Amino acid sequence: MIFKTACLLTGGDPSKLELFVNNRTRLTGEVTVSSSKNAILPILAASLLTDEEVQIDRVPSIKDVIIITELIHNLGSGIEKKENKIIFRAAQVGTSPDYELVRQIRASFLVAGPLLARHGAIKIALPGGCAIGTRPIDLHLKGFRALGAGIGLSGGNVIASSSGLKGNHIYLDFPSVGATENIMMAAALAKGTTYIENAALEPEVVDLANFINTMGGRISGAGRNVIRIEGVKRLHGSHYTAIADRIEAGTYMVAAAATGGDITIKNVIPEHVKAVTAKLIESGAQVAEGRDKIRVKRDGAIKPLYLKTLPYPGFPTDMQAQFMAYLSCADGSSVITESVFENRFMHVPELSRMGAKIKAESRTAIIKGVKELSGTRVKATDLRAGAALLIGALMAKGTSIISNSEHIDRGYENIVDKLNGLGADIYRQEEESRH
Ligand code: UD1
Repeated sequence: MIFKTACLLTGGDPSKLELFVNNRTRLTGEVTVSSSKNAILPILAASLLTDEEVQIDRVPSIKDVIIITELIHNLGSGIEKKENKIIFRAAQVGTSPDYELVRQIRASFLVAGPLLARHGAIKIALPGGCAIGTRPIDLHLKGFRALGAGIGLSGGNVIASSSGLKGNHIYLDFPSVGATENIMMAAALAKGTTYIENAALEPEVVDLANFINTMGGRISGAGRNVIRIEGVKRLHGSHYTAIADRIEAGTYMVAAAATGGDITIKNVIPEHVKAVTAKLIESGAQVAEGRDKIRVKRDGAIKPLYLKTLPYPGFPTDMQAQFMAYLSCADGSSVITESVFENRFMHVPELSRMGAKIKAESRTAIIKGVKELSGTRVKATDLRAGAALLIGALMAKGTSIISNSEHIDRGYENIVDKLNGLGADIYRQEEESRH
């Protein structure tokens, strides 16, 4: 087995790496989930709300975290890294985040709320669309405007300014996770009280509110439809660890069921993966919950499912692709409806190359179960699509080669090592060395 993961964190070009996945493997054993990518990203952005020291422990080594850390450093924040801890000190920071870094990940836009709150001004590149859809930011801007910021768009940048944000009632037309987080961060230092109505209920929103409260913030109601944010004059330093990654946990849960395996996933909050658990049980897998671990196994046939993605606590859109790979070998036809993003079926043609029988139209896919998938060359188009291809490859006969594997590294810490620890035979190889 060859392991060539080092360049991911040392400046090599991971886009030149392919993942080779050998043969169908029944995954067994134990795996530990890392801190949540989607909780850590806004928490790191929120470190800009104070000029005091903020220490975050158990920070996962994943590409998205590396990019946002660089962005915050680039703004002027002092940064110290010790093992998996990061200490920030944003004594003085600028108001114009680096264009190239902002364009790399959409979550970069999460620095807008904290910078607006702290400096009353920001110039930031529009995050733009991505593989899974146009992903507008109108709700973020609606919130900033309601707090009293003037917003302009110029040359692909959002320019916002205010002479002092003021609390307000903000109704979100859709419970957007990012908009809820950005508005919550901006309102944390506003004068007066803000109410976000129809707020996102995701656990990562709750974690961000908890983090801001450890800095002296006054946020209540996170995890419910209306979040109340009482603005404070200043926030102080903090020391925090984010919640476990429910999507990483869910991905290993599906990998266990998909390979007819038996895996115990540690460092999970079972409450956060209820929808995934319910659907796995419906598909014939056995799921046993402990306090902070979950065991998933399957030995019978995979039963087909009807599945629709929804905002939390509904079935997560970030687990849709992995379930599609799993259901491609179900005993019958499944139907998946994607209701959160408009273009999140990029994995369909790739899974089809492995022999899956999937028909996708608009937001619905019909998956006619086949007996087995076959290893072939496929391309990861985005993070969760990449995870789905990995699951497909682990179910497939023969060797699969996944190109553009850097997408997978955006969100899964040490995924190759973790899967190999469960019995998989996966290695990375540089593209050039094959030619
Ligand atoms: C976050 C997660 C992402 C997850 C998604 C939905 C992070 C870093 N990313 O993304 O992994 O898939 O939640 O659970 O936490 N929308 C608007 N206007 C806006 C904002 C969003 O129309 O101003 C729409 C989007 O186009 C999309 C839907 O709302 O159709 C959901 O987006 P949102 O909840 O904002 O997702 P993100 O915060 O981008």
